[in-house]
Amino acid sequence: MIPTKDAKKLGEIASEINACTLCPLSKTRTLAVPGEGPQNARILLVGEAPGRNEDKTGKPFAGAAGNILTEALTKAEINRADCFITSVIKCRPPGNRKPNDDEIDACCTHLARQIASVNPDVIVPLGNVALTTLTGLKNIGEMHGKQITMTNKTYVPAYHPAAVLYNRKLMEKLIWDLSVAASITSDD
Ligand code: URA
Repeated sequence: MIPTKDAKKLGEIASEINACTLCPLSKTRTLAVPGEGPQNARILLVGEAPGRNEDKTGKPFAGAAGNILTEALTKAEINRADCFITSVIKCRPPGNRKPNDDEIDACCTHLARQIASVNPDVIVPLGNVALTTLTGLKNIGEMHGKQITMTNKTYVPAYHPAAVLYNRKLMEKLIWDLSVAASITSDD
């Protein structure tokens, strides 16, 4: 994708997310979680939705799944601080339930604008919700670690770090998926 001159900067998009009232989750959130990372990130990671820790701190992947993500990135020789990390929806669903279609529809323009703003070499959907929202594909178990090019964007789906909390055997797969993503950045 060629960045347009009028692509908004991440800070401006974050301010709009912090003030967003497009769906009812804006009434139950403590803080919105726009995402974090540098404007020139080459890897953009997309989770599902903020959880309890993220809702409290306003930072993405701030809890146990975040520790798994940081560990997996390190083992894949990726510096977390060099990535832009966000989620499909920016506000916590009560009780950590899955986001519903209305919430995803209302929120995903924020994500589309963040992707246009960063214009990364590779987008990593973490888990099925991000995979389906971004690509329309469904099965993370089949699609993880594969390079997929669609509408001028490159995706490498990966297991969601929370899945690793329930099945430690997935850690090696997550590290592998992230290594595949790193191997196609222009920094190589
Ligand atoms: N899970 C996600 O998908 N995103 C977060 O920010 C935290 C946990």
